[in-house]
Amino acid sequence: MGKFKVWDGFIRSFHWLLVIAIATLYLSAEEGMLELHFVAGFFTLALLITRLIWGVIGSKTAKLTALIHSPLAALKSFKVGDSKPGHGAAGSYMVIAFFILILVQLISGLMTTDDILTDGPLVQYVSSNIVEWASWVHHRNFDLLFYAIILHITAIIIYRFRGKKLVKAMITGNTQTNQPHSNEKITKAPWLAFVIFAVLLIVLMTTWGAEPLAYLLS
Ligand code: HEM
Ligand code: HEM
Repeated sequence: MGKFKVWDGFIRSFHWLLVIAIATLYLSAEEGMLELHFVAGFFTLALLITRLIWGVIGSKTAKLTALIHSPLAALKSFKVGDSKPGHGAAGSYMVIAFFILILVQLISGLMTTDDILTDGPLVQYVSSNIVEWASWVHHRNFDLLFYAIILHITAIIIYRFRGKKLVKAMITGNTQTNQPHSNEKITKAPWLAFVIFAVLLIVLMTTWGAEPLAYLLS
């Protein structure tokens, strides 16, 4: 058995920063701390856009095309497992669902209002019907995202009982393998992803984020 790098540094940072960001978004909404909610929202937007770009130019295991599997392959992967490194066939459906749910949550948030003081940055550009609809979507879609997170963590625990240490791999980047091609390098250096993320973050925080950020820092 040898060690094999399966997740590059950006994918791992993306995952754990996303977990922290979503927890912050949930708690800040519950506590009515909308400045923090907005700043965490713009952070998540920069993170997800970078992940989608990295899904085109990044490592083999980060590629969005690697997420496409037939439903039959997904069913088979439950029974016999997956042989290739990266997300399995069933897990890929989960990842696609996450990307869509988080994107819907972000876009609807930009057009959501609390009906009192705070408007998402796109509220002023769209009709009141759209704002009403987006606010409804923002509340309801979060429930779906919440169920997806519960399902995701349950699946990871089930895989652990079946002997797969997925969390360890998402922390260290490495997995154990006895495949002959184990010294083949499939991950790319993540620096370009971090540069793209930093640029997006600076743009978002100095435009839409400037006001809530100034409030938080004052
Ligand atoms: C807010 C909660 C969470 C969200 C939104 C989330 C989302 C995601 C996403 C989008 C991926 C795909 C990563 C990528 O390719 O970019 C992923 C993978 C993964 N997540 Fe989470 N996650 C959450 C919580 C957790 C927690 C708490 C754990 C640990 C118990 C965990 C363990 C993993 C593991 C091990 C993978 C890799 C699965 C594989 O090998 O295919 N996640 N998660
Ligand atoms: C993945 C990202 C996001 C998550 C997980 C999230 C989550 C939430 C949750 C759970 C609520 C409370 C819903 C309820 O009370 O039922 C909420 C409300 C809200 N969110 Fe977000 N949000 C996200 C992004 C954003 C963004 C980017 C913006 C705007 C910049 C935004 C603006 C708002 C506003 C204005 C409210 C209404 C608060 C109220 O009704 O009092 N959200 N969000």
